[in-house]
Amino acid sequence: MGKQLSVAMLGYGIAGKAFARILTEKKEEIKRSTGYDVKVTAIVTGSRGTLMSAEGIDLLEATRQLEENGAFDASSPQYRNIAAMEVAETADYDVLLELTPLNIASGKPAIDHIRAALSRGKHVVSANKGPLAWAYRELRDLARKNGVCFFFETTVMAGTPVFNMAEYCLQYCKISKVEGIFNATTNYILKEMGKGLPMEQIVKAGREGGFMEADISMDVQGFDAAAKLTVLLNVLMDAGITPDQIDRTGIEGIAPADIEAAASRGNVIKLLCRGEVVDGRVVGKVAPGEVPQNDVFADPDLVAVVSLYTDLMGKLTMLQYGLETTQTGYGVFVDTMRVIDMLCGQGKQ
Ligand SMILES: NC(=O)c1ccc[n+]([C@@H]2O[C@H](COP(=O)([O-])OP(=O)(O)OC[C@H]3O[C@@H](n4cnc5c(N)ncnc54)[C@H](OP(=O)(O)O)[C@@H]3O)[C@@H](O)[C@H]2O)c1
Repeated sequence: MGKQLSVAMLGYGIAGKAFARILTEKKEEIKRSTGYDVKVTAIVTGSRGTLMSAEGIDLLEATRQLEENGAFDASSPQYRNIAAMEVAETADYDVLLELTPLNIASGKPAIDHIRAALSRGKHVVSANKGPLAWAYRELRDLARKNGVCFFFETTVMAGTPVFNMAEYCLQYCKISKVEGIFNATTNYILKEMGKGLPMEQIVKAGREGGFMEADISMDVQGFDAAAKLTVLLNVLMDAGITPDQIDRTGIEGIAPADIEAAASRGNVIKLLCRGEVVDGRVVGKVAPGEVPQNDVFADPDLVAVVSLYTDLMGKLTMLQYGLETTQTGYGVFVDTMRVIDMLCGQGKQ
């Protein structure tokens, strides 16, 4: 029998469906290059049912059912009434994908899903930043103790290889400072305000374009940026902090007059994130700040950007343009492929 990798997906929304599209497209190529047949054996949703099949679920059919009927077909032999925690704790799988919605206030129940999988010696890929922001050290140590992978490239800058670059290409570099713009919604709002557009019109266009949530308060108040900064500081600088420890100011106090005043000084206003060591402790701050118009952070086409300050490689900056769901799916996909790389490296073939 050939090599198999079975995947359990908790959540089948934007990220889950994007992962499914990429896996379906690349399945044969993965088999040819690694010998692994990657099968999704469980898909759990919050309110649309669960599908399970040891032989593997037809992902295009699962997506069709959700898009056409709004739920999985309850008459299908693969249909189950099983919730995420039970799947994490009892189902037969090699890799758990944590793709449920973010709980920005506590990281739960995703932390419990991940803890359950890692405790059973299962690999975990998370697109959900909550667990990384609220319980990174515990989960990382549990993964290490049980010799399994815990990957999360999608959590910050949706698939842009920030964590992969740091782990593979910056080995033995010490990162002493992280700077960036991590929230695409506020970046867009500030850019459009710079054109003199009123907030209501900007938000209306963003929602109609499908790139702004119905509720943007977590973005506007800086909570989302603070959670992403926390993840970066926890992973790259072992900060051991939680989002409530970030000094946070959102963009709700920014008025058109502030943007005009900044422009008169040759600057633009951005929601800036920064983390560095102060008195031996990693501290993080999210707040609007001015950036010179010719600075790379001021590029109007930019969705997100991160700069890492290192001892051996100086300052490195990674820029994200374009915000496609494919990039989100790719982050989850590439992490899953890294699990195969690890298994191949261990000779478990
Ligand atoms: N979308 C992006 O571009 C993006 C980028 C980076 C990171 N992420 C992260 O990826 C995760 C998923 O995002 P998304 O955009 O795919 O969200 P989404 O479109 O809202 O989908 C969430 C999925 O999770 C399911 N779900 C909700 N509660 C659940 C529970 N308790 N147990 C099992 N399934 C549950 C939902 O099912 P129901 O519909 O039935 O509730 C739905 O299938 C989030 O943590 C998000 O922050 C997303």
